[in-house]
Amino acid sequence: MTEHHHDHQAQGGQPDQGPAAFWDQRYGEKDQLWSGEPNHSLVQAVSGLTPGKALDLGCGEGGDSVWLARQGWAVTGVDVSATAVSRARARAAAHGVPEHAVNWVVQDLAHWEPAESYDLVSACFLHSPVELPRAGVLRRAAAAVAKGGHMLVVGHAEPPPWARDLQHADHHFNDPDQELAELGLDATAWQAVLAQLNERPGRSPDGEPATLRDSVLLLQRR
Ligand SMILES: C[S@@+](CC[C@H](N)C(=O)[O-])C[C@H]1O[C@@H](n2cnc3c(N)ncnc32)[C@H](O)[C@@H]1O
Repeated sequence: MTEHHHDHQAQGGQPDQGPAAFWDQRYGEKDQLWSGEPNHSLVQAVSGLTPGKALDLGCGEGGDSVWLARQGWAVTGVDVSATAVSRARARAAAHGVPEHAVNWVVQDLAHWEPAESYDLVSACFLHSPVELPRAGVLRRAAAAVAKGGHMLVVGHAEPPPWARDLQHADHHFNDPDQELAELGLDATAWQAVLAQLNERPGRSPDGEPATLRDSVLLLQRR
């Protein structure tokens, strides 16, 4: 889901909180943190794929999961925040998505192992200012992609213009090549379908317009 307000500001909980406490507090501060819309890069990358089983890592308030379900995907949405997941569930219901179409899971991905295989694993803006072993989470999820299935990783390629000094702070910023390197996948088993930077308009917390750059990596398992 497109960000409502950009999250590179130190809002919300304390960095020394665990991820569940941090993100529940962060979500609890507003009725809605994100726009509710699916991420544009997800829509772009996934629209041409045949729906099957999808896993949405860090599904937040469900913008992507609900969109996927409406496209016919059987979705598992996982997030550490129970507050976010209950909003996602409500969003699905509001869009008439049948309950069985999405399996909502409240879990810390650091301690979660996919139990089945997926035709699509999507991680959009799986960033956190608190402990998140992101590369390990992505690698475990990649191992759960079925043959012929896809893995989509969308993230901030760089800090937004108003927060360049966060370059070395808790968030990390990868371009598609760096994402690919971090995944450490067997190059003979995976093919890059998309590896690009997408630009989108954003606004600083003060309302200043800015251009944001997202890294988009879509891989297919051979
Ligand atoms: C920047 S938000 C992105 C949400 C959504 N994917 C989107 O694109 O708007 C990051 C999400 O990851 C979740 N998250 C952070 N750390 C997590 C963890 N260890 N396990 C599961 N979810 C986590 C947060 O609760 C939050 O919903």
